[in-house]
Amino acid sequence: MKSMETTTKPIEWGTILFLLLLSFPRLSKADDIFQPPDLLSINCGSSSNLSTLYGRNWIGDTNTELLSVSRGSLIATALTKTTIQGPYDSARLSFSNFTYSIFNLTAGPKFLRLFFFSTSYYNNFNRSKAVFSVKAGPYTLLQRFNASLDADSGNDPARSNILFREYCINLQEGQNLIITFIPSSPGSYAFINGIEIVSMPSYLSYTDPNVDIDGLPKLVGGQTYTIDNNLALEMKYSSTGSYAFINGIEIVSMPSYLYYTDPNVDIDGLPKLVGGQTYTIENNLALEMKYRLRFGDRSIPGSEDTGMLRTWDVHNQYITTQSAKSLDIDKKTKLNFRNTPYTAPDQVYLSLVNMGPNASINMGFNLTWQLPVDPGFTYMLRLHFCQLNPKVIESGDQIFLIYIQDHLVEDYVDIFSSGGNQRGVPLVRDYAVIIKDDNQKKVNLSVKLHPHDKSMIKDAQLNAIELFKISDTTGNLAVPDPRIQDTEISHENPIKQRRGTTRTLVAVVVAVSGVVLLSFIMAFFIIKRKKNVAFNNGSNKKDGTSRGGGSSFLPTNLCRHFSISEIVEATNNFDELFVVGVGGFGNVFKGYIDDSTPVAIKRLKPGSQQGLDEFMNEIEMLSQLRHLHLVSLIGYCYEINEMILVYDFMDRGTLRDHLYETDNPPLSWKQRLQICIGAARGLHYLHTGTKQMIIHRDVKSTNILLDEKWVAKVSDFGLSRIGPTGSSMTHVSTQVKGSVGYLDPEYYKRQRLTEKSDVYSYGVVLLEVLCGRQPLLRMVEKQQVSLVDWAKHRYEKGFLGEIVDPALKDQIAPHCLRKFGELALSCLLEDGTQRPSMNDVVGVLEFVLQLQLQDDANVNAGSESGGDYEDSTTEDMFSSSHSSVHVSDYSNSSGFNPTSYACMKSNRLSEHVFSEIKDPKGR
Ligand SMILES: *[C@@H]1O[C@H](CO)[C@@H](O)[C@H](O)[C@H]1NC(C)=O
Ligand SMILES: *[C@@H]1O[C@H](CO)[C@@H](O)[C@H](O)[C@H]1NC(C)=O
Ligand SMILES: *[C@@H]1O[C@H](CO)[C@@H](O)[C@H](O)[C@H]1NC(C)=O
Ligand SMILES: *[C@@H]1O[C@H](CO)[C@@H](O)[C@H](O)[C@H]1NC(C)=O
Ligand SMILES: *[C@@H]1O[C@H](CO)[C@@H](O)[C@H](O)[C@H]1NC(C)=O
Ligand SMILES: *[C@@H]1O[C@H](CO)[C@@H](O)[C@H](O)[C@H]1NC(C)=O
Ligand SMILES: *[C@@H]1O[C@H](CO)[C@@H](O)[C@H](O)[C@H]1NC(C)=O
Repeated sequence: MKSMETTTKPIEWGTILFLLLLSFPRLSKADDIFQPPDLLSINCGSSSNLSTLYGRNWIGDTNTELLSVSRGSLIATALTKTTIQGPYDSARLSFSNFTYSIFNLTAGPKFLRLFFFSTSYYNNFNRSKAVFSVKAGPYTLLQRFNASLDADSGNDPARSNILFREYCINLQEGQNLIITFIPSSPGSYAFINGIEIVSMPSYLSYTDPNVDIDGLPKLVGGQTYTIDNNLALEMKYSSTGSYAFINGIEIVSMPSYLYYTDPNVDIDGLPKLVGGQTYTIENNLALEMKYRLRFGDRSIPGSEDTGMLRTWDVHNQYITTQSAKSLDIDKKTKLNFRNTPYTAPDQVYLSLVNMGPNASINMGFNLTWQLPVDPGFTYMLRLHFCQLNPKVIESGDQIFLIYIQDHLVEDYVDIFSSGGNQRGVPLVRDYAVIIKDDNQKKVNLSVKLHPHDKSMIKDAQLNAIELFKISDTTGNLAVPDPRIQDTEISHENPIKQRRGTTRTLVAVVVAVSGVVLLSFIMAFFIIKRKKNVAFNNGSNKKDGTSRGGGSSFLPTNLCRHFSISEIVEATNNFDELFVVGVGGFGNVFKGYIDDSTPVAIKRLKPGSQQGLDEFMNEIEMLSQLRHLHLVSLIGYCYEINEMILVYDFMDRGTLRDHLYETDNPPLSWKQRLQICIGAARGLHYLHTGTKQMIIHRDVKSTNILLDEKWVAKVSDFGLSRIGPTGSSMTHVSTQVKGSVGYLDPEYYKRQRLTEKSDVYSYGVVLLEVLCGRQPLLRMVEKQQVSLVDWAKHRYEKGFLGEIVDPALKDQIAPHCLRKFGELALSCLLEDGTQRPSMNDVVGVLEFVLQLQLQDDANVNAGSESGGDYEDSTTEDMFSSSHSSVHVSDYSNSSGFNPTSYACMKSNRLSEHVFSEIKDPKGR
């Protein structure tokens, strides 16, 4: 057989195949059609039902109890007609938000399909003004979607302004599906109803689209819609607003693991991550179908799908290989859907593309597809195969390689042997492809097939391609149209919606295998994979469920989202050499992004729920805060079992690194004061500078970082809490968290958290700065163990000068020491209400610095006052005005000679760049 001529004419082998296959009684046709528990096609803005070809019964949305539409939307008919069958005569539309709530759906994954007809609608809904966003639950499906622009730029005139989108989302038990349509710039518009002019927003009472899913009022159909109908006729608007519209919505259930990863599949069955190991399509992710391509002579309409109304298109323009040939095999050929029911209808497997008949030149090129995609997302690529070539009679007859994005992902594909040494066995193989955001509008995702050297038949083949975009960590699938220049205020506030996530977080994955995955991978690959541990994937399946939808609520617009591949690149695949800090939370790496910007990359150990909470908390807090004295969060990465935070790199490490137990030269008194002032300003900002008070809860000398200009930055917001809100509340009760030695006794004893707890901890830092020692020392006299107690004791006796850091000898003017001591101890008062505010602290410290500078000036002028700690200054310590003091320009301060700190370049320097997030019990 091996010596046989390897090329053949398609027509021939189609016929031969038919004859051959008749003799295989085991082979059966996939007459299994999936029966979706939910199948709902909605004719939006219409009271009438509509049956169309392709197996759809569209139900009018105005008189069914299966759904409700929020007030504020109108219905209108299209000003033009389309020849395409579907719900296109009418639309539901509005200049303000409106929602569809669809009730009584079963739990599990669904297709959600949106149908738009881009035309002008009666009355005055000009087609060019339809610009809007669409959300489904926590997922952003479309953002600033300019329907007319999209329709006009489409390269398929046959669609005649019909736009179609298909998504996969997963619903929890008892969850209603809420679809929200949000006009991009609601703008101003007037409402003319008879002779009255009423402004729209006050006229209509909207249902809060942010209301809890179950909290949405269920509207009784008729009434509302009748009114809406009339309004539509009278509607006038100014030219500034945009509106949202929808013609058809469809919801169809799919088998649990048709696309989502079965948690019980073994590792070889997981989607393979291109350039990595494996990937899991977890059911908290939403998918958007970008391509569903078959080859052959025609598209397969929804009615011929396996029960889910998927359309299988033919678009040969994505094949860039000239000689590629697509073949249709005899329709009567029987297929053996072993464990792959429903993946695609028979016809998909009965047609294929190969490299063309000229086998002698096939080794010289690749069979190539180029699929344009939006960068900055991860994609799931599914390849469908079915071996039908009658010349293939034993394993090894036809073998080929697969490259995705020019990575060799398979070096030995033998469809025949993967199908159990049978022909006619449909197989699918999934890949995850990370497409980096490189500031381009579209990039091509490439798929290349090439015959194996050892293959008898020098040809490669593919039956179908499906490509899905995977929602990012914020639940977003949309790329806002960059051509749109409007000044839309950002609607999305993911932080607000955090509550809702817990629901998705507990998503339970049930095992029902729907798909058999090709076991292409030879031992060689498995070994290779084990060696080349790019990132931890092995436990994906287990962790997958707990990872959950929390990710959907990370801020999008405030900080950058890094893909894991960017982080891998920045840290040379988490190279040990790049580690600059180690802690209970995991490691901190120094890396470079955008080629040259140094960053600190904090990689949290995976797994613990507490870690996840603190991760989220830190992102939420920091991404809202921008201040000179707060560490800036540049971005985060949350994917493939990784929780990573990316910060500005702080060259000089932590304050503690410059105080004690260090090889660094001691800081001068003035430096120390300036650092204390900076940190105090950062905390003051946290307490008062934002809408809601933020309590840091973990102020300590290792959480104050220093940049190359010695500017102090408060860091580590993992434990931060939003403080009390409302006039009646003066504290929040929480589980006590913080660090030993810094903990406010009042908070500790009474579990009442106020901003004064931060003041207490800050007081401890002031003493560390003054005395150059740890808050707690074990191996000393009992009296001296606690810095706070010891300092109080010495201060009361009037001997505070005794415990000052020897390195500061003769640097501190006596009245400055007294003020500073007073301040520190006032921060440490038992009764929180007696402690100064951070604003007071800043004021006093600036005053102290000013005194010190004056004193130094006097010394330089020959006055003899240094070295003596006695002083008679009696200003009220909190009355000083500090507004006239400017100390923030550190870079110009004299006496700060960076070169004298050369030894800090060692890695040691940043060992504690980030303090640990510890188990509170351990503190
Ligand atoms: C439309 O179809 C739905 C569901 O099949 C049915 O309940 C409703 O009565 C129909 N409405 C009309 C006007 O035929
Ligand atoms: C939804 O389900 C509930 C409980 O099963 C039932 O009472 C209600 O009538 C259903 N609503 C619709 C619109 O089918
Ligand atoms: C829509 O607006 C454009 C310009 O903004 C105008 O040329 C066109 O006639 C309008 N179409 C309708 C149907 O009013
Ligand atoms: C196949 O390729 C060879 C080498 O390029 C060429 O000589 C031959 O004519 C080709 N045959 C066909 C059928 O195209
Ligand atoms: C096929 O594509 C791969 C990946 O881009 C490339 O390395 C290889 O050289 C190509 N083979 C041929 C014959 O062009
Ligand atoms: C949407 O696209 C149309 C062109 O079809 C354009 O005239 C209009 O200005 C766009 N709208 C926005 C808000 O950019
Ligand atoms: C519309 O929805 C967005 C996003 O949910 C929200 O930010 C905005 O406030 C809503 N507008 C109105 C008028 O309710």
